[in-house]
Amino acid sequence: MSLRTITKLAVGAALIALTSGAAKAGDNVEVLHWWTSGGEASALDVLKKDLESKGVTWSDMPVAGGGGEAAMTALRARVTAGNPPTAVQALGFDITDWAKQGVVGDLSEVANAEGWDKVIPTALQNFSKYDGKWIAAPVNVHSTNWVWISKKALDAAGGKEPQNWDEFVAMLDKMKANGITPLAHGGQPWQDATLFDAVVLSLGTDFYKSSMIDLDPAALSGDKMKEAFTRMEKLRSYVDDNFSGRDWNLASAMVIEGKAGAQMMGDWAKGEFLKAGQKPGTDFVCIRFPGTQGAVTFNSDQFMMFKVGEDKQKAQLMMASAIEDPKFQSAFNVVKGSVPARTDVPNTAFDDCGKKGMADLAEANEKGTLFGSMAHGHAVPASIKNAMYDVITRHFNGDLSTADAPAELAAAVAAAK
Ligand code: BGC
Repeated sequence: MSLRTITKLAVGAALIALTSGAAKAGDNVEVLHWWTSGGEASALDVLKKDLESKGVTWSDMPVAGGGGEAAMTALRARVTAGNPPTAVQALGFDITDWAKQGVVGDLSEVANAEGWDKVIPTALQNFSKYDGKWIAAPVNVHSTNWVWISKKALDAAGGKEPQNWDEFVAMLDKMKANGITPLAHGGQPWQDATLFDAVVLSLGTDFYKSSMIDLDPAALSGDKMKEAFTRMEKLRSYVDDNFSGRDWNLASAMVIEGKAGAQMMGDWAKGEFLKAGQKPGTDFVCIRFPGTQGAVTFNSDQFMMFKVGEDKQKAQLMMASAIEDPKFQSAFNVVKGSVPARTDVPNTAFDDCGKKGMADLAEANEKGTLFGSMAHGHAVPASIKNAMYDVITRHFNGDLSTADAPAELAAAVAAAK
């Protein structure tokens, strides 16, 4: 028997002991999440079916709203009432914030038995663990510095994928001249901030780190930040009149239907293109936001587990184990548009955008150019993120000038710290 087989058997035995055998009638997970778009629902179904095949039933608690703000509000109400759901989709610093309040569960037994430490990148572990304990199971890695372009609209605009800001602007101008909305966008603070993530990163990895992560007042208020807001103002000129409040997946639909040329959005957008039967390279093209190739702003969806009664703990552990199964990581992320949270999952089942996503993530991790996404709660805690959202959105809507925005941003961050 090989060492690997023995290890596998030992891990299996430990898990069986831990979860006292197979699921029994009554093993159920109530899951709070915000995966309500077509592509997201298809991905969620992969998880539901996987658990059902293991005898764990699913009680759905969907709270619509991209980026998860509404879901977090709903969660607060449940925890305050002393009745948290079994598992909750959560992002970055939100996980840490809950852990600090002492209300989260402990997945360490299963995580240690399965060796998660060795296969989940540190950048993710920083949020999945608190005080040395595993408190959340990462399901994926998304990233925000992508552009999703209609192949037809790109061809009509000359066919060249833009490599830098000037070429991006030239492409958008041609799309405008061709009579379509160049940039599909939904005016919601988290979506405005998703654009901002990419724009700031395009002005340099050092700049992203100093402004979005280290919160250096000079970087937040300086000339480079002014340039970032100048670019945001330019992007605003390519958006249609009805952008306010539009959901992100409806913006994706504009590109899918050929009404718009491109969307700047995280790779959950790919899930919408796939759901609509579109193929990368043929119907749509995925590129890193021009000027950001080699760097990645990431966010990872994790299922955070709360302290629940003993009757529910077994289902929690079974769910966590199912999520970290390499086969599940592949099957789920192929549909979701994200890439696996484990580093040992083969890329064979992924399409070209997925393969690129995996390669880009590995490269950025290696080079030290992998950064948490500010827009999606992985750069700074929610209090500071929300202060940034406010300034970015006011500016995007023309309520704050480009000249004043950097100082406002620095002041908002200072007040929220
Ligand atoms: C989540 C994605 C989700 C997207 C839009 C992001 O914050 O990480 O899983 O698809 O929001 O709802």
